[in-house]
Amino acid sequence: MAFSAFQLRFVQLLLVVLGVAFILFQLPSTHKETAPTQEVWGDPGDNFDDIRNETLGVQKVFAINLASRPDKRDNIVLGSSVSNFHVEWIDGVTPDEIDNKSYPYNWNHDQKRTEYAARRAHVNGLQRIVQERLTSAIIMEDDADWDVSLKLQLQSFAHAVRALQSQDTQKIPTQSPYGDDWDILWLGHCGLSCKTDLPFYLTPNDPTIPMPRHFRPLWRDSPIFEGHERPDHSRLVCTASDGVCSMFYAVSYRGAQRILAALSVNPSGLAEEINIGAQFDISLGRMCGNGYLRCFAPFPSITGGFRQAGSKAKSSDINDETGEQAGFSSSGVMYSTMLNINRILKGERTVHATWDDVDVLDVIPGDITMKQGAIYGI
Ligand SMILES: *[C@@H]1O[C@H](CO)[C@@H](O)[C@H](O)[C@H]1NC(C)=O
Ligand SMILES: *[C@@H]1O[C@H](CO)[C@@H](O)[C@H](O)[C@H]1NC(C)=O
Repeated sequence: MAFSAFQLRFVQLLLVVLGVAFILFQLPSTHKETAPTQEVWGDPGDNFDDIRNETLGVQKVFAINLASRPDKRDNIVLGSSVSNFHVEWIDGVTPDEIDNKSYPYNWNHDQKRTEYAARRAHVNGLQRIVQERLTSAIIMEDDADWDVSLKLQLQSFAHAVRALQSQDTQKIPTQSPYGDDWDILWLGHCGLSCKTDLPFYLTPNDPTIPMPRHFRPLWRDSPIFEGHERPDHSRLVCTASDGVCSMFYAVSYRGAQRILAALSVNPSGLAEEINIGAQFDISLGRMCGNGYLRCFAPFPSITGGFRQAGSKAKSSDINDETGEQAGFSSSGVMYSTMLNINRILKGERTVHATWDDVDVLDVIPGDITMKQGAIYGI
């Protein structure tokens, strides 16, 4: 939903990209590409396996969808079905459904009413997590796409975030396979900056990372990704200080309570420190940045976005877009679930990469493997 909104935020995105460049500059030049050899599965009893369950290791997975867009609901229902996880729905919100009285006092009315409606849908999701006392949940927007290896990617990510939360990697978290001390896991974004004074984690040889030239359009020409130290095939995980686009994230119960407080119940506590009268993703980034929330994120983003063929207007429910007809496309994902739907349903053994210029064009999903990485900057 927020996809095309980031055109409006070019400057913000630039700042974010510069933040990432900063941390990439700081990566140790001698780090070992091949040293860690342990597979990411883990041992029985250490609960990494829970991530492969019907709800990706959190208690519920929600997707936000407007009643007027059953086409997008079809995508998520079918995609999650072939990926073996279960999605529940949060109704999207239209501006007409929002009484003017219900805007928080600090909402910046220069922004579009559709942007508040989109934020309200996310807040409704957080409200539901608190209402249902969910230990943790995932919220996605309905134009999400993910790799066929999503569960393995999430297991790999869990190794990283657990290491960043507790340097005692033998300690098994009790609340969540992703660790017990986080508010947000920002799994799907279109820009990120990291807290560079804190350690970060690097997972080498991840076969599902798109090359930088395939990053979202605004990044493609960005020189700062060239020739720097994050090897192209390594995934970085850091404590996030900002992010753009709230396409796919996990939130803990504590995180949902805190965001509900900050964006609705009593914004004044935080509004004095940071401006949170903004779109959901921008407000979220600010809450991560000032330490109100403890946020972790991968770079590049794990999940991506899917666009159906047809007029450009189909893609965003926030902005009115006009433009040429276009084909099906996916961004940010190497082995796209959505683009491979027909192959998967036909029972073909392999899936096809989103781009032709990759190391492995056709892969058997079960053959994708990931090794554990290592923490740096302690
Ligand atoms: C999946 O794993 C999480 C984390 O252990 C757990 O809270 C949740 O109940 C599990 N869900 C299912 C459907 O098994
Ligand atoms: C609510 O506010 C918007 C813009 O601030 C205005 O256009 C609209 O007429 C208002 N609706 C009502 C019912 O007062």
